Amino acid sequence: MIYLDNSATTYPKPQGVRQAMQRALVEHGANPGRSGYRMCLRTTQAVYDCRSLAAEFFGAPGPECVLFQPSCTQALNLVLKGTLKEGDHVVVSDLEHNAVMRPLAALAGRGITYTVAKVTPGDSDATLEAFRKALGPKTKLAVCTMASNVFGIRVPVERIAALVHQYGVKLCVDAAQGAGLIPIHMGESGIDYLCCAGHKGLYGPMGTGLLVLREPEELLGTLVEGGTGTQSRNLQQPEELPERYESGTQNVPGILGLEAGIQFVRRRGPERICREELQKLHHLYDRLSRMRRVVLYTPSPEERWSVPVLSFNLEGVPSERVGEFLAKGGIAVRCGLHCAPLAHEKMGTLETGTVRVSPSAFTRKEDLDALVLRLSHWRE
Ligand code: ALA
Repeated sequence: MIYLDNSATTYPKPQGVRQAMQRALVEHGANPGRSGYRMCLRTTQAVYDCRSLAAEFFGAPGPECVLFQPSCTQALNLVLKGTLKEGDHVVVSDLEHNAVMRPLAALAGRGITYTVAKVTPGDSDATLEAFRKALGPKTKLAVCTMASNVFGIRVPVERIAALVHQYGVKLCVDAAQGAGLIPIHMGESGIDYLCCAGHKGLYGPMGTGLLVLREPEELLGTLVEGGTGTQSRNLQQPEELPERYESGTQNVPGILGLEAGIQFVRRRGPERICREELQKLHHLYDRLSRMRRVVLYTPSPEERWSVPVLSFNLEGVPSERVGEFLAKGGIAVRCGLHCAPLAHEKMGTLETGTVRVSPSAFTRKEDLDALVLRLSHWRE
């Protein structure tokens, strides 16, 4: 199989990730933070080491600002439901995934409203202006994706952070498609809440995610309460970070796999990974743009404005049919709406969906050539 669905989850995982997860089951088999025997202490330390590494990788003030979550979606839910109250207003971009839009739809029932601000690809000033206009006296939070999971369009999150802070508004960033490709420093970026998937550009396993906080004293409402291994006589959820947001037994194999994934990215460097993947997508874009019936929706991906994700269609053909045709030829892509109807509406592809190609650090130019070759055999 030629796997080009890395925006859904990266595959294969680096060897170090597989080894770390196997080792976790053998050497770190105790429940961390619950007891004082040797294996338990070792496991607690291993989880802490991953937290420290992630804090360093994202320039967070300290390890306690890194909260392990089961997914990016859960991290986004925690921020939205933990910060917003009746009467609050939110500004979102028009590229958001349902991981943002569905919690907001649910919160609408609690009197929370939102406005959608238009992202203008390649023009940060226009994007900034759209966000400025969308802000109002009741705006409490702005939420935007770091990059579209469908079209690879980057959003100028650092400039948006600086803008919204002028109005006393906080910024939550959905970095599902950005983390591991775009360097992020919590202090310098101004991002208040960074939500990451562990299993995409960070090369960890599925079932892992992170919420990274810019300020350790930040106290959000909780989504989940329960045992933390601390202050057990107190029936109230503790206020200390990170325990407050990590009730229940941790996904230790997942966390240790994620640590190895972050190490993999750190060794190569996110910029280099992104640049190399974009170069390969450039090649694909060139070849696709010369093919009859291929419709492309963005200019050729460029480092400043894009992450390595490319959407296309064959004129008049539902994207799913192209996906099936590619799958029969051993090529894995994702088609349809990619859980991001807002982005498809923006680009006029809500009815057809798109065929999405997303490479990883392991994708070779030949893999993309194989996709083009297969498409060249398309017959009605
Ligand atoms: N959000 C993931 C994707 O874009 C699953 O495919």
